[in-house]
Amino acid sequence: MRGGTVTIAPLRHEDAARCAEIEHEVFPGDDPWSEQAFRAELDNGNYYVGAYVDGELVGYAGLGVTDFESSVHTIAVVADRQGDGIGRALLRTLLAEADRRGLPVFLEVRTDNARAISLYLAHGFEHLGLRRRYYQPSGADAYTMGRPANRD
Ligand SMILES: CC(C)(COP(=O)(O)OP(=O)(O)OC[C@H]1O[C@@H](n2cnc3c(N)ncnc32)[C@H](O)[C@@H]1OP(=O)(O)O)[C@@H](O)C(=O)NCCC(=O)NCCS
Repeated sequence: MRGGTVTIAPLRHEDAARCAEIEHEVFPGDDPWSEQAFRAELDNGNYYVGAYVDGELVGYAGLGVTDFESSVHTIAVVADRQGDGIGRALLRTLLAEADRRGLPVFLEVRTDNARAISLYLAHGFEHLGLRRRYYQPSGADAYTMGRPANRD
């Protein structure tokens, strides 16, 4: 599926089931989140957005927010729309919200996820550390990355 205008808008509770399906597609070995997990994320006051094409969800991203910092909880694009600029648009929406609140942003990413790492490096993130066997059940390692608060 290609083409169509992509719209970024707040993620809705009715998207939770589709989010869980997409999670199983894109994070098969890393304990993908359930529909209930997405509902809990939305209920907990986190900042979530979806990418929609003709009303169909093709990606989502979420930012956990406290008074002091924020963290990218998840970001994913359906397989047949990856490489189309949608992940970049989702990330930029999260970063605009973090900047609006004056918060630094932290995240973890699999060390073998070259696409996501280059996306983060292109948006002001730096490597902070390494967490061995962070992802389960795969046992994959994670980099921790951070982006300073934009205080402009
Ligand atoms: C990571 C992900 C969210 C990126 O979204 P996307 O829509 O595929 O990526 P985009 O088309 O917006 O490209 C964003 C950037 O990724 C990088 N990128 C894209 N395709 C790439 C490729 N084949 N190889 C390496 N880097 C690539 C580039 O930096 C690109 O920016 P540029 O085109 O300006 O150089 C998406 O690929 C995805 O859902 N992957 C599976 C789930 C996942 O890994 N999530 C991240 C967990 S931390």
